[in-house]
Amino acid sequence: MALQDFPRYSLMFGPSPVHRLDRLSAHLGGASVWAKREDVSSGLAYGGNKIRKLEYIVPNILESGADTLVSIGGYQSNHTRQVAALAAKLGMKAFLVQEKWVDWPDVTNDRVGNIMLSRIMGAEVRLDPAGFDIGIRDSWQQALADVEARGGKPYGIPAGASEHRLGGLGFANWAYEVQQQEAELEVFFDTIVVCTVTGSTHAGMIAGFAGQDRPRRVIGIDASATLEKTRDQVARIARHTADLIDLGRDLRDDEITVLEGWAGDLYGIPVQSTLDAIRLTGSLEGVILDPVYEGKSMAGLIDLVSSGDIPKDSNVLYAHLGGQPALNAYAGLFTS
Ligand SMILES: Cc1ncc(COP(=O)(O)O)c(C=O)c1O
Repeated sequence: MALQDFPRYSLMFGPSPVHRLDRLSAHLGGASVWAKREDVSSGLAYGGNKIRKLEYIVPNILESGADTLVSIGGYQSNHTRQVAALAAKLGMKAFLVQEKWVDWPDVTNDRVGNIMLSRIMGAEVRLDPAGFDIGIRDSWQQALADVEARGGKPYGIPAGASEHRLGGLGFANWAYEVQQQEAELEVFFDTIVVCTVTGSTHAGMIAGFAGQDRPRRVIGIDASATLEKTRDQVARIARHTADLIDLGRDLRDDEITVLEGWAGDLYGIPVQSTLDAIRLTGSLEGVILDPVYEGKSMAGLIDLVSSGDIPKDSNVLYAHLGGQPALNAYAGLFTS
């Protein structure tokens, strides 16, 4: 089935905006850096990359007759916050398992930012002491069973909506949206930089761009610090999504690039390059990044441009995937 034949339930204002980061580009003295903003493209609870994925999942949710969305993430999961917003919008309940993915000392970590927003939107939150893992979790399966045992009808959405059969479609469509915006802006983005953790954002892009004529680099910057798992998951979801949208050929290994070097040792723990990237982007552009995801992918972009790995004549598109509400849970990082 072609991508445009999959049903899609609109949750966005339209295509996410694309704009040039003039002062950051000048500062780096290399490639021309642009951003495409998933963080300001929807009215649902500050938006973010899951909204676009969920647009392709909603028709299946509605068809299922479920009354409760069941999902999982860390205490400061952006994904579960977007699922809570979706449940509110659809008039459903949300049951969220929030695991202790990050051992972060800020005392408000399980109270402010994303988790607070989910509670405001009426979600039921179950805290779980388990650590970080992007795979399918027993606690999520238990939550599905618990909703059933109460007489509810659950609809499961795995972490990041990535292991969902339709999870890659949103960002496959992003690739076509980029193509359209390039025609309007008269620019070609030869390099895309995107943060990757549960994988379906990056994977969807790979599948979408693979169907276009002009080759480009789609560079995933790992923020999971469990590189092999993320790499496998990106490759698997990219191939599955390519199949789903009838790409008509196998993806080559060289189309799937996940780079390490900016995640630090642990998911959710910023390192110096993350903090530097957040302050640089904030002070030069007034664009806010978070310490878990986007600060890490921007640190990668900065290094790749500065080192000339991304050449001076490149147009680079930075995928801004949202995530700012988590900043509140990291208040201790920015006291001066
Ligand atoms: C702000 C932000 N950036 C990047 C990602 C990574 O996306 P994915 O999990 O699809 O790899 C996520 C979610 O996990 C996110 O919330």
